[in-house]
Amino acid sequence: MRSDPIFTSWPQKASALWENQPLRLEHRLHQLPLFSMDGLADLISRYPRANYSLVHMGAKGESKRFWREGEIGSLGGRQVIDAIANGRMWLNLRDITSADRAYKDMLDEVFAELSERVPGFSAPTRTAGILISSPSAQVYYHTDLPGQCLWQIAGRKRVHVYPAAAPFVTPRHLEDIAVNDIEVSMPYADWYEEHAVPYDLEPGQMLAWPLNAPHRVENLDTLNVSMTVSYVTEEIRRLQTINLANGLLRHRFGMDGLGRQTGGASFWAKAVFQKVMRQTSWAKKKRTEGRTVDFRLDDQHLGGIVDLKAAA
Ligand SMILES: [Fe+2]
Repeated sequence: MRSDPIFTSWPQKASALWENQPLRLEHRLHQLPLFSMDGLADLISRYPRANYSLVHMGAKGESKRFWREGEIGSLGGRQVIDAIANGRMWLNLRDITSADRAYKDMLDEVFAELSERVPGFSAPTRTAGILISSPSAQVYYHTDLPGQCLWQIAGRKRVHVYPAAAPFVTPRHLEDIAVNDIEVSMPYADWYEEHAVPYDLEPGQMLAWPLNAPHRVENLDTLNVSMTVSYVTEEIRRLQTINLANGLLRHRFGMDGLGRQTGGASFWAKAVFQKVMRQTSWAKKKRTEGRTVDFRLDDQHLGGIVDLKAAA
């Protein structure tokens, strides 16, 4: 094991639990300059427009599905952080590993360490985002198609993890997400909470959970900075192929009850089919429906927003 590991403690059982059960572990990423407030402010200031999402949750008490997407406008990185601290929104710096080499090196180190600690674990495709969110922000019940883990850098949050099984998540849900690319449209009922396990995260803790386990996240009244990590193993890659192919076959051609084998002739036929289909304008349109940028951050009142139509 390396001399200065990123996981600052790794109980032996963690190797057996990884990807099979929710798992909370300790790390030291929050102590790196890359994740200091100065480091993050600098990253925000130079972040490519195409690679971030800024989402406003609407006024307190509004419909929980009321989301708007916007842009940073003329604010510098530090002001953006202050605006988020005072507002009701979150900023997702997607794909930090392509935006900056230092973050890629950090993530490579994380996965090298995981491969050493978890026998047989290998995730050749991985990416990370930095999520900066307001004290009152929450992420609604959803699931993700890739493997996921969440690393807490600043502030405190609570992650509720649900079983990765029906009725909480079904193949049909996964296929719909693969086609529409919108994760939060899954059905949810209050009684799901009886089956959820809550995990509180503080700076220096991370949480991993089984593939496709639904989850929702609430901030505990503090500005939050977290790193979200997505990874794809060979098995996950094949499942993603199945999800997209089955989803397209159902949405486009009305075919239902399709198999989910990740090998054999039907798998490879689906692999070719989804590759062709995802290039079509129909599939591309499906994936971008419902996403319009309509506000920017207010540079006069940090935490406020300006309607882009009103500003034009
Ligand atoms: Fe998620």
